[in-house]
Amino acid sequence: MIDKIKEISDAVSEKISRITSLNELSDLRVRYLGKNGEITALLKGLKSISAEERPSVGKHINELRQKVDEMLSAYEDRFIALQKEKKMKEEEIDVTLSMPDKNACGSLHPLTLAKNELINAFTGMGFSVLEGVEVEEDYYNFQLLNIPADHPARDMQDTFYITDKILLRTQTSAVQARTMLSQKPPIRVICPGKVYRADDDATHSPMFHQMEGLVVDKNVNICDLKGCLDEFARSFFGADTRTRLRPSYFPFTEPSMEMDVSCFMCHGKGCRLCKGTGWIEVLGAGIVNPVVLENCGIDSKEYSGFAFGIGIERCAMLKYGIPDIRILFENDLRFLRQYK
Ligand code: DAH
Repeated sequence: MIDKIKEISDAVSEKISRITSLNELSDLRVRYLGKNGEITALLKGLKSISAEERPSVGKHINELRQKVDEMLSAYEDRFIALQKEKKMKEEEIDVTLSMPDKNACGSLHPLTLAKNELINAFTGMGFSVLEGVEVEEDYYNFQLLNIPADHPARDMQDTFYITDKILLRTQTSAVQARTMLSQKPPIRVICPGKVYRADDDATHSPMFHQMEGLVVDKNVNICDLKGCLDEFARSFFGADTRTRLRPSYFPFTEPSMEMDVSCFMCHGKGCRLCKGTGWIEVLGAGIVNPVVLENCGIDSKEYSGFAFGIGIERCAMLKYGIPDIRILFENDLRFLRQYK
């Protein structure tokens, strides 16, 4: 009987070491500890053993039963733990993996940045913002602004015509006419927006942006114009910026002028940016031609005004050192990301 006990003990140890599933484990439990199991059979066999030997053999069998039960339970625990660990490994998520570009958040386009700064400079002086339309009538874009059909000034702007009377606006000045027709003085507006001309090279694009300014009130004169534009130049290009006005010609202003700012790169000494002159041209301006006021129903004896037109691309290129206007429209991310 003792031999049999030893034999079973060895067999169980050996079998347990080869188990690969919980099913096999439970088969083993049935085979040895079940109702008809081998160890249970040993216990039943105690009857046939002599009364002196029975307590000692019974003790051995009970020890065996307890040992096998503990081995199976221990193995079961280990097996379940292993399985859990394996499952966790398989389902592991590496939260440290980096995304393709974890800083991929957008930024404003340099033109938008320049436009916003221009708007800030003028709204700070009490101007309000108007937009107008891009598909415009010849009437507002040219005729009301003292540029009749046969006027040579039309040659200055190569126009995209849609019909004889409708065109893509060539200048935000068209909004001047619309504003004077729809508002009574005092008027103080800026009009940023897209304009279109059949032009295409390193400094000209068929679509570009302007910002028009218009002030109409009683006793408005050139000093007001100069003060306003000086203020803008200092706010946009830097506090130590100087300005100068040069005579020019626009049909809708009289007198007309262009404004230069002192070169903010060389401070007037002359450099590549200002082509050695120390000055950079930034806008056209003038006193609103009385003909235009009258065209738009404003009494030119009672009111006067000044107007100006700023190229937004030009301002952005100057301020951010952009050498070619076309870069602004290519949307190359390597370029755009510099303006975060
Ligand atoms: N509209 C002009 C242009 O596109 C710019 C301009 C000049 C606008 C003088 C004005 C102005 O309002 O007074 O070339």
